[in-house]
Amino acid sequence: GTKVIEAAEQLGIMIPRFCYHPALGSVGACRVCAVKFLEGPFQGVQMSCMIDAKDGMIVSTTDEEAVEFRQYVIEWLMLNHPHDCPVCDEGGHCLLQDMTISGGHGMRRYLGLKRTYQDQYLGPLVQHEMNRCIHCYRCSRFYQEFAGYHDLGVMQSANQTFFGRYEEGTLESPFTGNLSDICPTGVYTDKPSRFFGRRWDYQRSPSLCIHCSLGCHTVASARYREVVRHEARFSEVINGYFICDRGRHGLHYARHETRPRQPLVNGEEVTYEVAIQAARKKLEELISSSGPNSVACLSSERASLETQATLHKICQDKGWKQPAFFMDGTLARKIKTASSRLEPELAVSLRHLEGADFILAVGADPINEAPMLALAMRQAQRNGGKIFVIDPRPIFLPFDFVHLPVTPDKISLYFSWLTKGAMDSEVVADMGQAASKFYQSIPAIEGVEDALQEQISTLAQQLRKSERPIIVCGTEIVPETTPALAADHAQLLLKSNKRAGLFYLMPGANSFGGSLLAEDGISFLDILEELENGTVKGLILAESDPFYRFHDRQRLNQV
Ligand code: SF4
Ligand code: FES
Repeated sequence: GTKVIEAAEQLGIMIPRFCYHPALGSVGACRVCAVKFLEGPFQGVQMSCMIDAKDGMIVSTTDEEAVEFRQYVIEWLMLNHPHDCPVCDEGGHCLLQDMTISGGHGMRRYLGLKRTYQDQYLGPLVQHEMNRCIHCYRCSRFYQEFAGYHDLGVMQSANQTFFGRYEEGTLESPFTGNLSDICPTGVYTDKPSRFFGRRWDYQRSPSLCIHCSLGCHTVASARYREVVRHEARFSEVINGYFICDRGRHGLHYARHETRPRQPLVNGEEVTYEVAIQAARKKLEELISSSGPNSVACLSSERASLETQATLHKICQDKGWKQPAFFMDGTLARKIKTASSRLEPELAVSLRHLEGADFILAVGADPINEAPMLALAMRQAQRNGGKIFVIDPRPIFLPFDFVHLPVTPDKISLYFSWLTKGAMDSEVVADMGQAASKFYQSIPAIEGVEDALQEQISTLAQQLRKSERPIIVCGTEIVPETTPALAADHAQLLLKSNKRAGLFYLMPGANSFGGSLLAEDGISFLDILEELENGTVKGLILAESDPFYRFHDRQRLNQV
């Protein structure tokens, strides 16, 4: 099943390509991957992205006929191209530019009029310049097939083939930025960073996205010491080749003009030394008058492990209370359970998730909580997997799935009925006492209308038939017992000879670190009570803004 183009790449031979992409597969649209088959089942010049590598094949990438063929392909792909590289944002990291130069095409022979298109307004994030298109279909294949959205696609035919929307408007998908990465020329470019600089002008560095708990890999680009662009960085087990728009565009706060850039003491701009001295003095006065217990520290799940650990150590060394990382104790405990119950035999990556044949998401809204999870679930669904969501919210996913909207207090019950329906009690009895006891503790399904009972039993049958089921468990809206229950169910499925997996969704980039360091599950709610009763008199905030995160602003205003 390995295509010749991939086999060559594994040997370090890079065959030119425009339409072929490892995540999207082959369509044979651009013809630039031509090679010559000298021996074996195929003969002559053929497309290396369309033919499976076979024993006995001898393939030449440098044969004169193949090289000449590729040169013609570049020349005809460039017939209508506007040759606007000096003002194109893709210039400097453009596959078409690279291939044109390396293929040796330098003289335009065609003297006719160029085909031109009307560009469209596609929203604030993506710039459209259709005249640069080479009709490789990468954009529409990514947008529709890979990501599951349908408001951008292919229209018209032959020489007039057009890629865009049927009418102007903001793109609907939350993954639109990948169009800029995946288009081998400059049809879609990153709009917010337009005209900021060329690839070689940027200081570029590998980075990680901070906008949800998945940790997608990115490359951050800065110019004049300001971050201007994020792009996807390949990660085999997490995000693959893509990232979501939140990760790509959630950077502009960093150079926002109202962002504080100078320390303030009582509203006055001061130097760092002065600010640190002022804070130290206040802290010392407070501790000598009211004792070390009058100081509390709050960090967050978005703080780095270094920040969280430093705060934890300071509190330990100074004899202060342990720092809090979460807004309420229930959340802290749920996340602690999730991080401690994620046993190695159950933990799965997003890549594993793409291979699941049954995904049961409990209390999880992937598009809003962790968009790349939705994209991984989409791949599982494309591969024939069934997706089932138990959640009270109006969940949208870019593929067919079954949604059971039940109130949070019923999530665990419906979840249990479903897995119970998928197991034979005799099989469970053989699994040992613990499994049997857990299975027996699940109440019988009753008091539920017939149609719903039937739906649960149909889904249970699908789960019973599945070989690779994965439970995705959210931590925000579910009851406190659900994360542990999810692990119990996953264990039960694992013991019944299924390659079961478990994937927890957490509310923030570093909830995991916070949960490991929050020793006694202390939360901001505990601190708030102590602020209200006067036990705590000083609060240190490290990458945390309770006014943004805590639900009761009025209560905060009063302390
Ligand atoms: Fe290919 Fe870009 Fe044209 Fe889409 S717009 S077909 S990705 S060149
Ligand atoms: Fe093979 Fe386009 S990469 S035809």
